[in-house]
Amino acid sequence: MAVERSFVMMKPDAVQRCIVGEILSRFERKGLKICALKMMVVDRPLAQKHYKEHAGKLFYEPLIRYITSSPVVAMVLEGEHAIASTRRLVGATKIEEALPGTIRGDLVIHTRSNVVHASDSKKSATREIALFFAPDEILSYEKDLERWVYYE
Ligand code: CMP
Repeated sequence: MAVERSFVMMKPDAVQRCIVGEILSRFERKGLKICALKMMVVDRPLAQKHYKEHAGKLFYEPLIRYITSSPVVAMVLEGEHAIASTRRLVGATKIEEALPGTIRGDLVIHTRSNVVHASDSKKSATREIALFFAPDEILSYEKDLERWVYYE
């Protein structure tokens, strides 16, 4: 089984719009396991590291202002093909392409304030998890209902 971990962040607008529970619930219902979860303020140096691939783009400065503007909820989610699965649940970055049924398709109308971030590859997931979490903040544990989520 290809078990992976992905970094997922519910952004300032998710906290301010009181939809953290709804978003988290979609990941839980999918069968993804929460291995780490914390509320935090992203400071500018962390925001710059996290979004370094976007440095220089027109939307970069507003993006840094937005992500540092209010607390976020950061988490590590684990499961079979967790990286691709979370990206599909989250939906497309270009909001006009985010399909109904996805988090962004259902809850977002503007490309920047898109309520949630999810790693786009194994490399990004490894990098982003290490940026936001110390190793001892990430828990490995068994859940009894896993035999029903992964029925052999
Ligand atoms: P995220 O998945 O966190 O990755 C980069 C973020 O930059 C993205 O979500 C949006 O919040 C933002 N973003 C990406 N493209 C644009 C854009 N064209 N205009 C404004 N913001 C953008």
